[in-house]
Amino acid sequence: MSEKHYAVHWQEEEYIYPPPSFVGQANLTDPSIFERFSLDNFPECFKEFADLLDWDQYWHTTLDTSDAPCWKWFVGGKLNASYNCVDRHLDKYKNKTAIHFVPEPEDEPIVHMTYQELYRRVNETAAVLRDFVGLKAGDRVTLHLPMTPELPITMLACARLGVIHSQVFAGFSGQACGERIWDSESRVLITIDGYYRSGKLLDHKVNGDQAVEVAKKLGQDVDKILVWRRYPGKYSSAAPMVEGRDYFMDDLVKQYRGKIVQPVSMPAEGILFLMYTSGSTGRPKGVQHSIGGYLSYVTWMSKNIQDIHPEDVYWCMADIGWITGHSFIVYGPLSAAASTVIFEGVPTYPDAGRVWRIAEELDVNIFHTSPTAIRQLRKAGPDEPAKYNYDFKHMTTVGEPIEPEVWRWYYNVVGKGRAAIVDTWWQTETGGFLCSTVPGLSPMKPGSAGPGVPGIHPVIFDDEGNEIKPGEGKAGNVCIRNPWPGQMQTIWKDRDRYVSTYYGKYNKDPNSKDWRDWPYMAGDAAVMSSDGYVRILGRVDDVINVAGHRLGTKEIESAALTVEEVAEAAVIAAKDEIKGTVPDLYVSLKPGYEASQELAVKISQAVSTVVGKIARPRSVHIVPDMPKTRSGKIMRRILASISNRGDVGDVTSLANPDVVEQIRRQVQS
Ligand code: WTA
Repeated sequence: MSEKHYAVHWQEEEYIYPPPSFVGQANLTDPSIFERFSLDNFPECFKEFADLLDWDQYWHTTLDTSDAPCWKWFVGGKLNASYNCVDRHLDKYKNKTAIHFVPEPEDEPIVHMTYQELYRRVNETAAVLRDFVGLKAGDRVTLHLPMTPELPITMLACARLGVIHSQVFAGFSGQACGERIWDSESRVLITIDGYYRSGKLLDHKVNGDQAVEVAKKLGQDVDKILVWRRYPGKYSSAAPMVEGRDYFMDDLVKQYRGKIVQPVSMPAEGILFLMYTSGSTGRPKGVQHSIGGYLSYVTWMSKNIQDIHPEDVYWCMADIGWITGHSFIVYGPLSAAASTVIFEGVPTYPDAGRVWRIAEELDVNIFHTSPTAIRQLRKAGPDEPAKYNYDFKHMTTVGEPIEPEVWRWYYNVVGKGRAAIVDTWWQTETGGFLCSTVPGLSPMKPGSAGPGVPGIHPVIFDDEGNEIKPGEGKAGNVCIRNPWPGQMQTIWKDRDRYVSTYYGKYNKDPNSKDWRDWPYMAGDAAVMSSDGYVRILGRVDDVINVAGHRLGTKEIESAALTVEEVAEAAVIAAKDEIKGTVPDLYVSLKPGYEASQELAVKISQAVSTVVGKIARPRSVHIVPDMPKTRSGKIMRRILASISNRGDVGDVTSLANPDVVEQIRRQVQS
């Protein structure tokens, strides 16, 4: 990525102050917070986070750095995540809704599941996993579940037993799921027969069968596939149920109705879940999150940055298959005793008013979504929000940079000028927010995420490791000076990759046990203005952000290379009005093959099959040759300039400069 080497110029946006009606009721309005969380008070300041949880055994050491940079938080403590998200609320909130489930078909009733009901369902599911399947603490289980209540129920049932869940986004292909089963060494896959998307009941069990086949080929056997049914008792998949391997969960739980499973008391440093995410190589990384550190972090953020009070109705429109859903649909909000909304389907189906109708019907007052969804809703129905009678006090944007103009529509039209907005910048690896304004304390600035949240100290370094001072107007690599409790523990089974990816560039002493020697490198280019507000420009590595979803270019390229005719493949991020960026795929063919429309379609389909539909390229350009340096490196930067109709710059030093003009004419004609 090149923009980080240049000074960036933009119009500095004006501050917008949070509405007094919001501030008056906000959980966090004490300005001493930043002082309390200064680096002088590190790491003890994070005690405040841990104290939001119920511990079976209180911890003795806040931060243990002896295995740096694998940080251990709240050492000596014991707790259970499912207990903290469910059981501890029963005294006060037993009859309050924990989950509102909004099915896609509008004639299907919304399910309002109380904390008591959630407790019952988590317990009976945990009983199946423990007593029927034989799972125990430390085992891994892969979940390939869409947005129905069975997903959080299954996650919490795993957490109750200390079983490590690895949820794979349902939109990922069976093959992608199979690779993750293999890497995590799961012997059990939990899936569903089908789910709704844009008016269709999709067959999902077929993906499970494929996943298990792929895992087997890689050397990982799966003993059991547990299948929830979208409609209990009524199976809606074409995939056969295999005797002795496949079981219907809705039948199994019946045998354990009313069974109480004692939550297993786990060490704070136990593993809560793995979440696979894309990086610079083709192999996805199993990001490993702890129980105590992670849960305390997302709980604090839910309470203070999301401003969740137990009486709020909170709707995060992300998918639980991504980190946003884990942290801010399930663990954070439930730990904070919220009523959290789970929405099946897509925001603009069947029409542009769907989202606002739901908000009105459920009295949603906290709303959380991505810039892509905001752009889609704005395009489909710019005047729709005004037609509905809902009132948001707080709104979030997450996952990609938001253009100030889009931010203003969100603020004025969706929020009706009455909501505080937080633009939260963070990552799968970070567990929870890194940069955001504190909604009851700091002004918003459209297009900037904000300063570090309390306890997070961001800094921008140039490529040589010199600090770029706030207000210098230069972009660089955004890093965090200190560890924090929500941070990943490591990459599953790959400590070396963890150390080199996040610390390789700026750590100078690999033996140091002092956290000050280990700034965390996020992999984003950013600029910090003089007030400390951070504006994120985008990834500096081979990751593409499509509609706020993180995809690896290498994964897409490897998928293209599975097509017999393809010799070379290069993916670049093309700018898109709605999705931010989308993949554009360039391929060259082996000798003897001809370019054709059919071949382009075949390559595109290969990407869908191997990675998933979300990775499908906007276009497949079959080019005569790739622009290359003399040492043979494909110049993706040039391809990106062609796709985005920018200046390709000086190409005379390439091995094959003439091809650039040929490609430009082909693509831009
Ligand atoms: C990008 C999603 C700008 C960024 C929570 C990061 C953002 C990647 C923002 C992580 C934001 C996330 N503004 N860019 N508010 N939030 N990003 O792991 O490039 O799916 O590195 O986590 O999304 O994506 P991930």
